[in-house]
Amino acid sequence: MTNDLDTPTPTVSVLGLGPMGSALAQALLSAGTTTTVWNRTESKARPLEHAGAVIAPDAAAAVAASDLVITCLRDHASTRELLDEVPPEALAGRTVVVFASSTPGEARRTQEWAETRGIDLLIGAIMVPTPVIGTPDALILYSGRQDLLEAARSTLEVLAPRSPFVGTDPGMASVLDTAMLEVFFTGMTAFLHAAAVVTANGLSAADFVPWANSMLDILPDTFRGLAADTDRGEYPGNEDNLAMELSALTHMVETSRDAGVDPGLPTLMRDLAREAVERGHGADGWSRIVEVLRESS
Ligand SMILES: NC(=O)c1ccc[n+]([C@@H]2O[C@H](COP(=O)([O-])OP(=O)(O)OC[C@H]3O[C@@H](n4cnc5c(N)ncnc54)[C@H](OP(=O)(O)O)[C@@H]3O)[C@@H](O)[C@H]2O)c1
Repeated sequence: MTNDLDTPTPTVSVLGLGPMGSALAQALLSAGTTTTVWNRTESKARPLEHAGAVIAPDAAAAVAASDLVITCLRDHASTRELLDEVPPEALAGRTVVVFASSTPGEARRTQEWAETRGIDLLIGAIMVPTPVIGTPDALILYSGRQDLLEAARSTLEVLAPRSPFVGTDPGMASVLDTAMLEVFFTGMTAFLHAAAVVTANGLSAADFVPWANSMLDILPDTFRGLAADTDRGEYPGNEDNLAMELSALTHMVETSRDAGVDPGLPTLMRDLAREAVERGHGADGWSRIVEVLRESS
């Protein structure tokens, strides 16, 4: 493997060996990368030692061992805390890639923290579960220092062949991470709510899957339409309108109650539609809801 970092075959250290850190280290080892690992609880490093990793005695030694340092701790605060204990000379000349769940504000704080210490640091957001790491489907978003991503790209693509740079704002990877997860969690929760309603009415959840998926087929075009309206700031109701949708959502709340299922989720959507209608937007399309959300914040 060749790489644009200083050495033709860069060495990599992985600090933090929860399920994700272990998957990252395993993918590097499988690609033949010289990999050093460290974890606060050392027992989690043992399986990787059997796979060929070197276990460092402490975080400073792990950082000093490699050109590229990957941290995969619970959050940014614990990552900064850990790296604060590493002597600056161990960090000098290293590229540090931080993978941790974060708010955009926390990611920006970590970037500022690194700049004040002269640390070359790149922020990444892992968008796939552990079994997908190292496969063609793996996706990791990067933001902040594009120069660091490009210099380490061939090594980082071992983890995720899809490794786009999403912006110089260090918080952008987290902005997209949280926004994409919102779509995912909302979809999963909507499915479970609907499954509770259909199972209360005698259908199995499995039998409902094809019906649910037929709605998913509509979503890509729907998202494009909603995005166009949102970016234009115009919310035409030519094909659908909020007055009609309010009626459908009211039925959804009643059906949920009748099934003995918590109506919170459809009630939230009904109340958004009701608010828009009460503000005089009953003839607008569903995209008008973005304004209600902005104004209610
Ligand atoms: N698992 C996934 O599918 C997935 C997917 C996408 C993104 N992520 C992100 O990846 C990151 C790691 O997740 P994970 O699944 O590996 O599980 P995790 O349980 O969040 O991993 C925690 C890791 O952080 C370490 N840690 C926590 N606080 C520490 C501290 N103060 N000092 C030193 N080490 C500390 C733990 O060490 P100990 O072992 O000693 O406790 C452990 O190695 C998270 O930010 C998560 O959101 C995970």
